[in-house]
Amino acid sequence: MRGIIIVSFLILQSLVASSSQSAPDFNFFYWVNYWPGAICDSQKGCCPPTIRDTASDFMIHGLWPQFINGTWPAFCDQTNLFDISKISDLISKMERKWAEWGVWTCPSNETNLWEHEWNKHGTCVQSVFDHHSYFQTNLKFKQKLNLLNILKQKGIKPNDGFYGLDEIKNAIKCVIGFAPGIECNEDVKGNKQLFQFYICLDNYAKEFVECPYVPDKSCASKIKFPKFPKKRFSLSESLSAMSSVSTT
Ligand SMILES: *[C@@H]1O[C@H](CO)[C@@H](O)[C@H](O)[C@H]1NC(C)=O
Ligand SMILES: *[C@@H]1O[C@H](CO)[C@@H](O)[C@H](O)[C@H]1NC(C)=O
Repeated sequence: MRGIIIVSFLILQSLVASSSQSAPDFNFFYWVNYWPGAICDSQKGCCPPTIRDTASDFMIHGLWPQFINGTWPAFCDQTNLFDISKISDLISKMERKWAEWGVWTCPSNETNLWEHEWNKHGTCVQSVFDHHSYFQTNLKFKQKLNLLNILKQKGIKPNDGFYGLDEIKNAIKCVIGFAPGIECNEDVKGNKQLFQFYICLDNYAKEFVECPYVPDKSCASKIKFPKFPKKRFSLSESLSAMSSVSTT
């Protein structure tokens, strides 16, 4: 009898130990999306991706684990760095939804952004996601939440017009139940404009949650929603367009 109690106690203990081992060791996620127009009309300028069918839409930036005190873990595992072969089935979708417009480098290099997101943030969430599910979860939320449509339905359009910060937050809140964080940057004239949305998710990235912490991201009460940048065509496409014009 006593032996059984001890054995079952040991089993219980090991269950507790293993479940606490796989629990997330951070408090919530930011799912961050950026607006390419806000990079292109800024001082920094942009480098449009060469992929022609990049959507005229917000682009995924990444899924970032956060602590409740406003800090975050980063670069947690040097032994499991980015490996594109583990996500080969997702690449074509990622090229359209997760394209790099010079957020990090000009010329743009998607692989570079994806590598940065996994190595910095993904390696810290391996209690919840592996390589593939980290990238897939980003794409899943992109499918689930069409930020541009939500804004357009409230008359908030990327037309270089100015909109109330609260008006923008409320449009998103109406759909997901919680206000997002918004990060602004400046156009070349110094106007504050919509750059990134921070959508908060629980620490398993299953549900939208109230943001426990939203840093001050330097917006004004009215901010510009810049136009989507013109797409760049490859040199050969431009030449063939020019020659077809000159011969007709
Ligand atoms: C924030 O919380 C994390 C996790 O609990 C902790 O490791 C870190 O030291 C805290 N940082 C500050 C500045 O309080
Ligand atoms: C893009 O970034 C990846 C990963 O950092 C790198 O291996 C590759 O050489 C880069 N490509 C170009 C064209 O710079």
